Amino acid sequence: MGWSEGLGRRVLGATLAVAALAVLSLDLSPALAADGAAIALHGVGTVPACATCHGAQGQGNPRIGAPHLAGEGIDYLREQLANFAAGHRINPIMQPIAAGLTPEQRDAAAAFFAALPVPAPHPVPPGPDRAGALLAEQGRWSAGLPACTQCHGPNGIGVPPYIPRLAGLTAPYLTAQLLAWQQGHRPPGALGLMPVVASKLSAHDIKTLAAYFAALGGPSSPEAGR
Ligand code: HEC
Ligand code: HEC
Repeated sequence: MGWSEGLGRRVLGATLAVAALAVLSLDLSPALAADGAAIALHGVGTVPACATCHGAQGQGNPRIGAPHLAGEGIDYLREQLANFAAGHRINPIMQPIAAGLTPEQRDAAAAFFAALPVPAPHPVPPGPDRAGALLAEQGRWSAGLPACTQCHGPNGIGVPPYIPRLAGLTAPYLTAQLLAWQQGHRPPGALGLMPVVASKLSAHDIKTLAAYFAALGGPSSPEAGR
């Protein structure tokens, strides 16, 4: 358990540090906030409106694999955009979009989506295959694997500003992110926690976990991706 306690302290310490940063970074000028809404809803230059794919409420679009953005931490969103822009996070759709924005425009768009409300996830009724739920909620301590919900919150609701929401992300998107960490194709991210977690997952684990979190959608239809 020592590992988990140490990890917990690291998460808490870093969360506090980042919370302080987030307060500073949310202090955007009104002009920048307006820019964020304009970029998100109308696009800028050759960059299309984010809403085209991520939805005007930042709810995401499972059909095209665009994750929700609403209510994620501003620093998380900003870091992902910087990763795409620099080619450190690989995605043929998002890389040119992020690279087409200035750092200030990326910050403004991140602030816009971070401020949007997050609908509550709805727990799924237990299905015949509980493997995903068990791993997500209890982890596998024999292998030093903490429960996903220990960091991502109950029902994978997310713990901004640092830890993104998993509920309602699509199974292919979740799978791709976990594989990307296993293969070193996604930057380690906050505190370098996810590469360690992902390294402990088998292909079967990933399949059941992805199915579990994808099923934890929002209050509307699963089609809405929340
Ligand atoms: C043409 C569709 C499209 C448009 C337009 C688009 N995105 Fe994306 N976005 C995607 C897809 C697809 C992904 C998933 C990428 C992956 O699988 O890594 C994504 C991922 C992201 C992520 C990572 C989210 C996470 O949970 O890690 C962020 C942040 C993001 N987009 C922000 C934006 C912003 C801001 C804009 C507008 C400037 C925008 N996107 C415009 C399709 C789009
Ligand atoms: C010790 C804390 C911790 C644990 C345990 C943990 N995560 Fe994470 N997870 C994080 C952090 C921090 C991030 C943000 C990484 C970044 O900044 O790129 C993250 C991000 C993710 C993402 C990316 C989401 C997105 O929007 O792109 C996925 C998918 C994910 N975790 C899945 C899991 C799964 C599945 C488990 C359980 C097997 C798990 N995590 C356990 C801390 C944790």
